[in-house]
Amino acid sequence: MSAHSNGNGNGHYNGNGNGHHNGNGKLPLPLNLRPAMPRMAVVGLGYWGPNLVRNLHELPGAELACVCDASSRALDTITLRYPAVPGTTDFDDVLSDPSIDAVVLATPVSTHYHLGMRALEAGKHLFIEKPLAASSEEAIALIEAANERGLVLMPGHTFLYSPPVDAVRELITSGELGEIYFISTSRVNLGLHQADVSVAWDLGPHDFSILRYWLEETPMHVTAMTRGCVIPDTPDVAFINLQFPSGTIANVEISWLAPSKLRRTTVVGSRKMVVYDDTSNEPVRVFDSGVNLPNPETFGEYRLTYRTGDIVSPHLSAAEPLYLELQDFAESIREGRTPRSSAQLGLDVVRTIEAVDASLELDGARVPVGA
Ligand SMILES: NC(=O)c1ccc[n+]([C@@H]2O[C@H](COP(=O)([O-])OP(=O)(O)OC[C@H]3O[C@@H](n4cnc5c(N)ncnc54)[C@H](O)[C@@H]3O)[C@@H](O)[C@H]2O)c1
Repeated sequence: MSAHSNGNGNGHYNGNGNGHHNGNGKLPLPLNLRPAMPRMAVVGLGYWGPNLVRNLHELPGAELACVCDASSRALDTITLRYPAVPGTTDFDDVLSDPSIDAVVLATPVSTHYHLGMRALEAGKHLFIEKPLAASSEEAIALIEAANERGLVLMPGHTFLYSPPVDAVRELITSGELGEIYFISTSRVNLGLHQADVSVAWDLGPHDFSILRYWLEETPMHVTAMTRGCVIPDTPDVAFINLQFPSGTIANVEISWLAPSKLRRTTVVGSRKMVVYDDTSNEPVRVFDSGVNLPNPETFGEYRLTYRTGDIVSPHLSAAEPLYLELQDFAESIREGRTPRSSAQLGLDVVRTIEAVDASLELDGARVPVGA
């Protein structure tokens, strides 16, 4: 099967801070030249890769063509479980196989650019686990390489496919919550300390991608404070403040060092408020609560009226986000379209994390998010 279907549409980006690039350098190839059932290789079978393997194995719209890990131990664990799926320790075997349409990369962040670029140069569509790359320069180079070849490039921002996250987005974009005043979020638990990245690069992509998806905007400014409590040069706790062009402000607390697992986000709007708790069996609760200032001129008298109405917990699909994410990747290849988790969104997330790093360099100063 050919690997030359045309995904294009990796979105716009500001490669040099000016202008927009539409990624439309190539038109999608005719339908009959796009693989109806993309054959995919999962590369990197450590902690996360096996989840991608399991979901791809179950996905009717794609074929798990091959698994690859440089470590024969990691590879053996998977090939024992999936004996019919060919395995290799050599990434070159994946690249040189013309029957493989796409690479799904779940290797450490520091390898994303190098391995990803080689996959694109070999004409493979590319899914890269979050974050897209270790710098915005690398992310832009990957986007350009994908666009030049008309290939789909998709960062693995899994939460964009989570039914609760989707439900909150609908509440925000439909206007039901009113103007979004602020969002505060805690993503903390004990572990897993990462060897090659800080907590901002490891957990930050989740919250930054969710905020970007919900608000449809990238923050203007960031301030950050972190500490490496266990390993001195590897921050394991971060308190990050973000300011968005619409006026919304957000606070993101992330840590690998906490007594219990918290996945809790509060969205406060002018009409309603939402608590999204990923650990709860009612993950989304909408509070018809707020405060009204009936006549702004009487503000000096503090005649505010507080409203505490119904609390509604919407019904949510039980679909596994990872499954929906890989389904979107397969369909984007097949249909020649941009996935929900677009490369542009992945680049915006990387830029936000870079702004966190820049703020830390400046002792927590407010820094702009690069464009
Ligand atoms: N979406 C999510 O919720 C989520 C969760 C965890 C991790 N991740 C992401 O998944 C990626 C991998 O994280 P992890 O925790 O599984 O890392 P890991 O270190 O546990 O596993 C990485 C694997 O890649 C293999 N590898 C490294 N270089 C290779 C090469 N050149 N060729 C073939 N194999 C190679 C290693 O041998 C290892 O088995 C990271 O980008 C991480 O951010 C995403």
